[in-house]
Amino acid sequence: MEARKFYIETYGCQMNEADSELVIGLLRGANYQPTAIPEEADLILINSCSVRENAEKRAIARLTQFKSLKKKKPELLLGLIGCVAQRAHDEILTENKFVDLVLGPDSYRNLPEYLNQEQMPIVDVNLSRTEVYDELIPSRNSVVNAWVSIMRGCNKFCTFCIVPYVRGRERSRSPQSIIDEIRQALNDGYREVTLLGQNVNSYHYGANRFPELLELVAAIPSLRRIRFTSPHPGDVDEKMLAVMQSHSNICKQIHLPLQAGSSRILKLMNRSYDQVHYLKVVNLIREFLPQVALTTDIIVGFPGETADDFEQTLQVMQIVKFDSAFMFKYSPRPGTKAAKMTDDVPEEEKSRRLKAVIQLQKSHTLERNKALVGTVQEVLIDGTSKKNPDEMIGRTESNKIVVIKEGHPKIGEFCNVQIEKAMGVSLFGKII
Ligand code: SAH
Ligand code: SF4
Ligand code: F3S
Repeated sequence: MEARKFYIETYGCQMNEADSELVIGLLRGANYQPTAIPEEADLILINSCSVRENAEKRAIARLTQFKSLKKKKPELLLGLIGCVAQRAHDEILTENKFVDLVLGPDSYRNLPEYLNQEQMPIVDVNLSRTEVYDELIPSRNSVVNAWVSIMRGCNKFCTFCIVPYVRGRERSRSPQSIIDEIRQALNDGYREVTLLGQNVNSYHYGANRFPELLELVAAIPSLRRIRFTSPHPGDVDEKMLAVMQSHSNICKQIHLPLQAGSSRILKLMNRSYDQVHYLKVVNLIREFLPQVALTTDIIVGFPGETADDFEQTLQVMQIVKFDSAFMFKYSPRPGTKAAKMTDDVPEEEKSRRLKAVIQLQKSHTLERNKALVGTVQEVLIDGTSKKNPDEMIGRTESNKIVVIKEGHPKIGEFCNVQIEKAMGVSLFGKII
C-alpha cells in the first residue's frame, strides 16, 4: 500500500518537541511519511501548548485554518494533540466539529490504532501514572542535539501553572532505557544530548536520583556535550553540582527559573524557595562552577504583584546578571489556584513591567557576552546563518550562538573559535 502522508506542527516546550519525535516515529511505523506541505497531507497533527492563553489561541487558530482543507478533502484526518487537547478537549469538540482526533500527552501510543478506525472523532485524554514511552524510538528532527526525555509530568503545582494538570503526575524512565537511547542517538550522528523533564532534579528511579543519572550519562563513551532542562531552584543540591564539576562533558549551563524576585510573590506562586534561598543557590552554583552560564524564566504581573514586588525581580536580576531569560506576562490558566486570585495588575502595567525586564535583560546578556570577547570557545557547528549562507552558526558550551565568518566548518564539527565581537544575543568569531 502506498504510504499516506502526514504533516505535523509543534508548539511549546522541548518536551513537546521530543513528544512530536515519538509521534513521528510511531507514524512512520504505521506507513505514514512526513510532508512539509499541509495540502498534500492525509493527516494533519497540531502538537499544542497550553502554558499561556496565547499559546492555546495559536493552536486553536491553526486548527481552524486547517478546517478549510478538510472541506476540499473530506478524507483528511485532522488531529489536535498535546497539552491543549488535554486541557480543553470538551470545548474543542463542541466548537471545532471537524476535529477527528483529540489526544492528550499520555495517549500517543494508541495513535496508529486510532488511525485505522472508522468512527471519528476519537478522544483519548487519559493521563497515566506510568507511561514514559520507554521503548518507543523517536524519529529525530534536530541537527546536532538529541532531546531525550528522562521523566514526565510534574508534582509541584506552582499556582500559575497548567503543566501538572495537562501532563499528570511525575514519573521517571529507567536509566538503562535513557542510556540506550543516547547511545543510539550517538550512533545516528548526534553530538549533544539534552535531558528533558519539567523538573529534572525530581528524577527518581530506584536508587538513582538525578545526580546518579547524570553520572551514568556522563560516562557514555564519545558523548561530548550533555545539557539538561529544567532543574527546580528549590531542589538544586551539591551532589548535582559536584557531578557537573567533575565531568567535562556536562555543559556548564543551568536554566534556573526564578519566576519572581519577591519572596511574598514566590510564596503565592508556591515556588518552595524565597529570594534569599534562590540567591544562595546561585552562589553555590558559582562556587562549584565559576564559568557557569545561568538562564532563567520570569513572570511579571502575577496577581497582587505590587510595584515594590516587581522592583525586587529587577533587583535579583541585577544581582545575578543572567546570561539570558524567557520573560512572560502572567496569564491566568483555568483550573489553577492562581486563576482564582484576582488578576489585578492591569494589562498596560504588565506590558510596562515586561518591557522593563526585557530591557534590563538585554543589557545583562550583552554584558555577559562581551566578557567572552578575546576568549577561545569550543563551538559545536549546527547550521548556516539565515542572513548569509556563507556564514556558519554554532553554540558554545554555555549555549550561546556564535557566528563564524570564515573557514566553512562542517555541521556537527567541534571547532575552537576566538570570540571577536558580541552583538545582540550573538557572538562573532574566527576559527583558530
Ligand atoms: N517546569 C519548568 C517550567 C515549565 S513552563 C520549570 O518549573 O522551570 C515554562 C515557563 O512558562 C515557566 O517557567 C513560567 O515562567 C512560564 N509560565 C508558566 N505558566 C505561566 C502562566 N500562567 N503565565 C505566564 N507564564 C507562565
Ligand atoms: Fe509548572 Fe511549577 Fe511544575 Fe514548572 S515546577 S512545570 S512551573 S508546576
Ligand atoms: Fe506547553 Fe505543555 Fe510544554 S503546556 S510548556 S507544551 S508541557
